[in-house]
Amino acid sequence: MKVDEIRKVTVVGAGVMGSGIAQVLATNGYYVTLIDISDEFLRKGLENIKNGPFGLKRLVEKGKLTEDQVKEIMARITTTTDYQIGCSDADIVIEAVPEVLELKHKVFKKLDELCPERTILASNTSSLMISEIASVVKKPERVIGMHWFNPAPIMKLIEVIKGAMTSNEVRDLIMEFSKKLGKVPIEVKDGPGFFVVRYLNVILMEAIRLYEEGVAGIKEIDEMCKLGLGWPMGPFELMDLIGLDVVYHIAEYNYHVLADPHVAPPVTLRKMFHAGYLGKKVGSKGGWYDYLGIQK
Ligand SMILES: NC(=O)c1ccc[n+]([C@@H]2O[C@H](COP(=O)([O-])OP(=O)(O)OC[C@H]3O[C@@H](n4cnc5c(N)ncnc54)[C@H](O)[C@@H]3O)[C@@H](O)[C@H]2O)c1
Repeated sequence: MKVDEIRKVTVVGAGVMGSGIAQVLATNGYYVTLIDISDEFLRKGLENIKNGPFGLKRLVEKGKLTEDQVKEIMARITTTTDYQIGCSDADIVIEAVPEVLELKHKVFKKLDELCPERTILASNTSSLMISEIASVVKKPERVIGMHWFNPAPIMKLIEVIKGAMTSNEVRDLIMEFSKKLGKVPIEVKDGPGFFVVRYLNVILMEAIRLYEEGVAGIKEIDEMCKLGLGWPMGPFELMDLIGLDVVYHIAEYNYHVLADPHVAPPVTLRKMFHAGYLGKKVGSKGGWYDYLGIQK
């Protein structure tokens, strides 16, 4: 397949990342099928694309899109809970379901079964090794990491990761495709967290441990990173944006693979995850500031 032959892209998981990725694809003229496990999740995904903080309505308000263009973009997106419908004629599938290896395996087995042989199977995983995800499919040559960043419509970087068996052709195509979407792809070796997340995880876990040690409070650490390091947001604000479930799963997996205590989830994060404090995402009890009752 050549990059200009790509027409249809299926996105599995209509959450924070899946909906953002679908928005970028449809804005660039691709026909998108969004798959999720219920109509309610699909409705929320579409709502995020239209009216979310980085959605199309905001671009109309900024004068970057017209109402007619928004209608055309939305018309290119269809939704379904039926994998058969979503997979039957996809050129590329981008998987964006929660960061749990067993779940990714379940999804990739289904994709392997239902997609035509030519379909490229990409994962937006933040940390799970592509070789490990690809271990359940018959043709791991077609499985690749295509790691977007949050918010997908804004962030330019895409990490492209070959698993142990991924073909060079698939890698080249995804690099070209990412460029066509206006993104900057950079190839990274397979390993837990690839580059950005492996590096970021250490910084985030250290911020939590410094808070637990009493070196400074949550609000103060966020302020210091913004004022002293010039970061656009502090580490606790960033974790709330990413989603504390994602942050927790990444730390658990990196610790599982690397056995380095510096990358392990500290006790407070573990407690928050199990208590349902998942950051800013829908259905969460709130993030760090809510859990600790801190006024912003
Ligand atoms: N949140 C981030 O900042 C971020 C950034 C980059 C990559 N990622 C990665 O993207 C992936 C998704 O993360 P997210 O933050 O969008 O999660 P999310 O929880 O917001 O969305 C996941 C979606 O997948 C759906 N889902 C669950 N099981 C499914 C199944 N079997 N089939 C189809 N859909 C299913 C859920 O209903 C939900 O809508 C994860 O691998 C995560 O590590 C996240």
